[in-house]
Amino acid sequence: MNDSKIIVALDYAEANAALQLVKQLDPALCRLKIGKELFTAAGPELVIRLVHEGYSVFLDLKFHDIPNTVAKACEAASRLGVWMLNVHAAGGSAMMRAARAAVDQAPVPPLLVAVTVLTSLDQTALDEIGFAGDLSSTVLRLAKLAKTCGLDGVVCSAQEAPMLRHELGAEFNLVTPGIRPADAGMDDQSRVVTPAMAISNGSSYLVVGRPITQAADPLAVLQRINREIAALPQITA
Ligand code: C5P
Repeated sequence: MNDSKIIVALDYAEANAALQLVKQLDPALCRLKIGKELFTAAGPELVIRLVHEGYSVFLDLKFHDIPNTVAKACEAASRLGVWMLNVHAAGGSAMMRAARAAVDQAPVPPLLVAVTVLTSLDQTALDEIGFAGDLSSTVLRLAKLAKTCGLDGVVCSAQEAPMLRHELGAEFNLVTPGIRPADAGMDDQSRVVTPAMAISNGSSYLVVGRPITQAADPLAVLQRINREIAALPQITA
């Protein structure tokens, strides 16, 4: 069974480039994330193919619409056999509850997680939108709302993970991007943490893109990250 905490971000413009990378990986050692760019270009066929190859797929489409529309989109995503999908918490509680109910109709319901505040938004941007309060209290408020609506977790930065783990308990999934092995460059990420730091901070799953996808030997980097995590003392709370 795949118990990998690493989700490789397939940030590619088309299916062939993504498949070139995937054939160097192993479904027992990682999961895969398909976002808006690749899904828009390659469609559900690629998702179905990767699921059939044995990969756990996180469909990162961040649904945000009226409850009925999001519920139908979640149903369609569940039918593809994905392992995880997400919605925007800012879509509100009725939308998140509708998403939950839709996902639960699947024979094997995918994990349903929420985006709280996009990490591209700073305090000024939040003020412009009209969100009350500071950034971290907004993240916490939306994460609590997601949990109340029955969602399985949130996408968050590893910096937010200790606070969210403390407030939301051991079972709530925290999915964290912005991961860089100690020997990797930063790319365009500004606040990065190592895989070991992210897990120690309470992350459940780590989204890793370029450190693996741009590596000369992607499998070797993946194996090194898995070993780094496996060497950590078990966290019990
Ligand atoms: O290449 P890199 O490891 O930076 O890729 C990170 C992935 O996580 C990308 O797919 C990016 O869109 C996504 N992501 C992120 N920051 C967020 C949410 C998602 O970097 N706050």
